[in-house]
Amino acid sequence: MTVAVRYFSRSGNTKKLAEAIAAALGVPAETVDYPLTERVDALFLGSAVYAAGVDESIKTFLRENRERIGTLYNFSTAALLPSTYKQVAKLAAENGITLSDREFHCRGAFAMLHRGHPDAQDLEAAAAYARSALR
Ligand SMILES: Cc1cc2nc3c(=O)[nH]c(=O)nc-3n(C[C@H](O)[C@H](O)[C@H](O)COP(=O)(O)O)c2cc1C
Repeated sequence: MTVAVRYFSRSGNTKKLAEAIAAALGVPAETVDYPLTERVDALFLGSAVYAAGVDESIKTFLRENRERIGTLYNFSTAALLPSTYKQVAKLAAENGITLSDREFHCRGAFAMLHRGHPDAQDLEAAAAYARSALR
């Protein structure tokens, strides 16, 4: 099975999850600035909530790489919202991409909120999610 990890992270919270997930899967964690070079069976895509939406680069990445994505797995951080699943599900539907209903989300530090998150426990849970999602 071919697997890839991509993410967008402004302040590093989602990057931490991406690195934990990528390490668990034995692949590199790359930003969405790096297009997929071949079709992958599973793409783990990390995003965060900014003003109730996801960054434009996530939208562009999905549009430009849709032919190379087998199943999409969403992971995310946010200060308040439950996850980016809803926003990513809309983008996946628009681009004809299959989205797994298995996602990972945890709190991400923002100003005074959730200091230190994702923490070691969050990263362990993210790694466990990645391993079990592909079983
Ligand atoms: C400009 C900005 C807007 C944000 N808006 C929201 C929001 O609407 N809802 C929310 O739950 N979190 C919001 N957050 C918090 C981020 O989702 C949270 O800090 C996340 O972990 C950031 O991930 P990153 O470090 O990977 O960029 C916002 C953060 C920033 C910087």
